[in-house]
Amino acid sequence: MKRALITGVTGQDGAYLSQLLLEKGYEVHGLLRRSASADVIDARLRWLGIASDVRLHDGNLTDLSSLLRVITEVRPDEVYNLGAQSFVKSSWHQPILTGQVTAIGAANMLEAVRLAAPGARFYQASSSEMYGLIQEPVQSETTPFYPRSPYAAAKLYAHWMTINYRESFGLHASSGILFNHESPLRGIEFVTRKITDGVARIKLGLSDKLALGNLDATRDWGHAKDYVRAMWLMLQQSTPDDYVVATGRTVAVRTFCRLAFECVDLDMEKHVVVDERFLRPAEVDVLLGDPSKAKRQLGWEPHIALEQLVDEMVAADLTRLKKLK
Ligand code: NAP
Ligand code: GDD
Repeated sequence: MKRALITGVTGQDGAYLSQLLLEKGYEVHGLLRRSASADVIDARLRWLGIASDVRLHDGNLTDLSSLLRVITEVRPDEVYNLGAQSFVKSSWHQPILTGQVTAIGAANMLEAVRLAAPGARFYQASSSEMYGLIQEPVQSETTPFYPRSPYAAAKLYAHWMTINYRESFGLHASSGILFNHESPLRGIEFVTRKITDGVARIKLGLSDKLALGNLDATRDWGHAKDYVRAMWLMLQQSTPDDYVVATGRTVAVRTFCRLAFECVDLDMEKHVVVDERFLRPAEVDVLLGDPSKAKRQLGWEPHIALEQLVDEMVAADLTRLKKLK
């Protein structure tokens, strides 16, 4: 039985990846940072019905000693570094912490793997946010990066450290440059979930307005379930490498919003207001990925279309909120 260690196991991707690996017969271990809300921290794992199947270990990405201890205890075959301060807007409010967790945290993981489990295969959660002020209209593995936020700068450091550890120490370290991916388990602060939660509240009469920021930004949105499959596929290759994971279709926040309102037969124009509190100091206007390398080399392609994703998210928020009503 293969053993996997996942950092960020309580997040959206950590939950879906745990589910996938359990289905494949893995023993799944997760790094859990100490929280005062221990009773709710595994909510996503519980939502998927797998909380009791994932073995959790106390540790923190900023504490190398804890990572060394956990890796020594678990002796993983595969390590997925998904832990991060992942909310771009917060990275301007907490730039140093974002660097410590998202950048140095990845370096800590690479060091811990190099020292305690050098034969393990390593996955780094890189991000399309690294393309920032895009240098090519469609972004691929060869497109130059231009980070536009402290988060993106931190991810870029982690990305290059992953490549450096592969080239310097021969680690089987791969980096997935994943474009935005969403699901009913998406954090409520991200725009898609904020929209589907807002739409469900308006439909149920719990609210009347939805305040958003820049409606013109466009993103290449996929489903998290499809994207964790790409992570796993990367670690099944004999040679480590870097891959763009995307759908190849980009739509505006406004379009996502319209689709979500249409799911409940409401007109977004009557409910959406623009509030400048949700604008960013520097924006990533457009992201559009070219996933052809992942398709060619991993045999990966997305199965869930945007419209299906929006339907699923709105339906899940309606169900969730009806229970609270
Ligand atoms: P997420 O839901 O925000 O999850 C982040 C995870 O990191 C949570 O489990 C969080 O734990 C954990 N974490 C934060 N600080 C930590 C620390 N100091 N030590 C240990 N764990 C810590 O993110 P996601 O959407 O699942 O994304 C997974 C990864 O992919 C992230 O690295 C993200 O930056 C990257 N990424 C995401 C996307 C996307 O569209 N979703 C696209 C590209 C890349 P708590 O539960 O305790 O907060
Ligand atoms: N969060 C948020 N809230 N975003 C808004 C809002 C709002 O009210 N209104 C408009 N937006 C716009 C943002 O300005 C941005 O252009 C876009 O919606 C997407 O914002 P987020 O959903 O917060 O995601 P992100 O693209 O900044 O970052 C996500 O994707 C990255 C990959 O490209 C995160 O998951 C990152 O961790 C990930 O690396």
